[in-house]
Amino acid sequence: MSNNLHNTFNSKSLKLWDSSEQASIYVANQIAELISEHRKQGKSVVLGLATGNTPKKVYQELVRLHQNESLSFANVISFNLDEYYPIFPDNDMSYTYFMQKYLFGHVDIDPSNIHIPHVDSNVEDIEEYCKAYEDKISSLGGLDLQLLGIGRNGHIGFNEPGSSFSSTTRLVDLHPVTRADAESDFGSLEKVPQQAISMGVHTIVQAKRILLLALGERKSEIISKALRGEITTEIPASILQTLPQVEYVLDNEAASLIK
Ligand code: PGA
Repeated sequence: MSNNLHNTFNSKSLKLWDSSEQASIYVANQIAELISEHRKQGKSVVLGLATGNTPKKVYQELVRLHQNESLSFANVISFNLDEYYPIFPDNDMSYTYFMQKYLFGHVDIDPSNIHIPHVDSNVEDIEEYCKAYEDKISSLGGLDLQLLGIGRNGHIGFNEPGSSFSSTTRLVDLHPVTRADAESDFGSLEKVPQQAISMGVHTIVQAKRILLLALGERKSEIISKALRGEITTEIPASILQTLPQVEYVLDNEAASLIK
């Protein structure tokens, strides 16, 4: 990797919590505060959202804040990181289904403000679709906040090992570790799609603020490599070390190898 990448990682960018619940509530509160700040200023807020097991408690808390503490999502415009390809949105393994189930189905977001990079398998020009996804984010002034999980292979979104740091939204092949990790959800490895549409690394790093949430012991090894190791496309999350706008939000178990 080039030498001019400067590692900005420091203790300020690290938020350690005793439990996954505390870490998730912290992230939910950061998102809620940003939504409310923008709302007070009469502005919309552009959120980059993630799926997987990691953000479930974050969404649960955001739904609670909506239902019990009048947090409104009326000014939220959302862009999801990724989606399997091909998959039907009504398939219960799709990320469209996931987002509806865990967040969008319970809050007052305008459905026309929801963007998930779904492409029907009969769409011929995926590249054009992906470019339009990027253009839409740019035309709204970029992502105000991007929520990220991390794969055990260091992926962010479905930017698998080897993804260029200059990549943008595109069709990608899923890595064997990613497919193996999805096997139990899909019921068998054969049912896990081979491909996905994913925002690129470049799309992600342009966000004004990035919260990477990692929970549990099974993330400890990759967290250690991504935060302390070499900055390399083999571990796409390692690029985040170079960015001042990143916060790593970890529970004790995920942080166990960096203490
Ligand atoms: P997980 O996935 O939250 O289900 O562990 C995270 C990711 O792969 O980004």
